Amino acid sequence: MKIIRNPAAMQRQSQRWQREGARVGLVPTMGALHAGHASLIRRARKVAGAKGIVVVSIYVNPTQFNDAKDLRAYPRPLAADKKFCRAEGVDVVFAPKSLYENDASTAIDETAVSLGMEGESRPGHFRGVATVVVKLCNLVQPSAAIFGEKDWQQAALIRRVARDLNLPARIIVAPTVRAADGLACSSRNVLLNESERQQATALWQAIGLARAAVRNGNLRGLKRRLILSIEQHLTAKVDYVEFFDKKMMRPVKPMKGVRMALAVFIGKTRLIDNARL
Ligand code: PAF
Repeated sequence: MKIIRNPAAMQRQSQRWQREGARVGLVPTMGALHAGHASLIRRARKVAGAKGIVVVSIYVNPTQFNDAKDLRAYPRPLAADKKFCRAEGVDVVFAPKSLYENDASTAIDETAVSLGMEGESRPGHFRGVATVVVKLCNLVQPSAAIFGEKDWQQAALIRRVARDLNLPARIIVAPTVRAADGLACSSRNVLLNESERQQATALWQAIGLARAAVRNGNLRGLKRRLILSIEQHLTAKVDYVEFFDKKMMRPVKPMKGVRMALAVFIGKTRLIDNARL
């Protein structure tokens, strides 16, 4: 497994792959790799084929954090991540120290699917995500890039940006991987203490409650009831619970087939999840 730390070296390498006609699968990550990432890596291997190249990028992208404390607290276990990638048969880890010029003045603004939910709670977040994903695609030139469904709105944003800007990479979205108690795998889970880890099941439980309510037609005050049930957990504070149209991310009434997304602080850690009702 090769480690590349320099963006220019990454681009030279990907130009060589292009000349050779190699198929390249990219898994963009911010590190602290877990079972969810392992499933994305396996998907990338399927897309690239045994002879193709699987690249995992590891970069805690500062432009997508709207809170300096959150950026500082974000886990960065690079040595463990490299070991993880080696064990998963990754060919190249691209772990740049920085991806931005000091006076960088160009960014990508998507203006429809990125507006609500995460876009509203975290101003500037999706601008940072869109910009870094396009930069990573320009540097790695993948045939396909693989993202997780846990970040549904992010995936919708990336699909939209890829379509609108004619990115040559195919955007693949892979299912969320969950712990036995339903908690979605996330790099932020390592920030939870034991009690918070138990409280974090509140997100999946709320999805279960919403599914039951939709099945039973018991929809009155559903959002309020979900918030109450989540906030019964000691340190849980709901940022939002939303039912939305899965393509445009616009709020809709809860009903079968609609998607639900939620963001909840458990102590200081903000977790998100989503599922189809
Ligand atoms: O989902 C993530 O880990 C990040 O938002 C991404 C797509 C790697 C961009 O920094």
